[in-house]
Amino acid sequence: MTIAAVITAAGSGSRLGADAPKALVLIEGRALVAWAALRLDEVVDSVVVTAPADHLDAMRAALADAGVGALVVSGGETRQASVAAGLAALELDPDDIVLIHDAARAFQEPSVAAATIEAVRAGADGAIPVLPVVDTLIAAPGADGSIGDVVDRDGLRAVQTPQTFRARVAIDAHRRAAEAPAATDDATLARAGGHRIVAVDGHEWGFKVTRPGDPPLARGIARSLAGGGA
Ligand code: C5P
Repeated sequence: MTIAAVITAAGSGSRLGADAPKALVLIEGRALVAWAALRLDEVVDSVVVTAPADHLDAMRAALADAGVGALVVSGGETRQASVAAGLAALELDPDDIVLIHDAARAFQEPSVAAATIEAVRAGADGAIPVLPVVDTLIAAPGADGSIGDVVDRDGLRAVQTPQTFRARVAIDAHRRAAEAPAATDDATLARAGGHRIVAVDGHEWGFKVTRPGDPPLARGIARSLAGGGA
């Protein structure tokens, strides 16, 4: 049985304000996608990275520079299409385990990825990392700026990656993608197919590098890792 990963890196990075795909943004001299692959290295056997079709060579070079051996394939128009392309490239057996991970969550703790794998080995169809919500949440303000009602944060969790599945579950979920067109993650697709998905504890370092203020946070983590941090 193989443990494989699809790392999605085919997004544009427009919210980050970078002129290159977000996954190629350098953090302490190493591309985000390479950080993501290296952090998963100790728990997976093989990796496929989805890249923008016009950046395949740049993605391969960024991974090779960091000593990462990964197959790079073209992503799709949507994240879901990119994941489907990655799954197809992996040629998985039904009982294999597959992690679906965003390059943008490059610093997720390896122990979190390991916990998702353990949960699937223990019998779940899939497992995802989640964190409690620490901010007060409200319904979005109206046009005049008046705020909406508070939403009970105790009943909510923020979802991270890697989202980990038996291969047959991930493949089935993405075959049925049309049935859950609003899904922004893989667990939602899997649940729409009736599969049982469980949660494990995520980690703050699994945040998605998305906005202009995020790279400095990522650099701090990278320096901490270089200094032997958690
Ligand atoms: O846009 P967002 O931050 O939600 O993207 C999450 C992840 O999905 C990123 O790592 C991005 O590179 C990837 N993605 C992809 N193909 C797309 C869109 C996003 O692989 N078409």
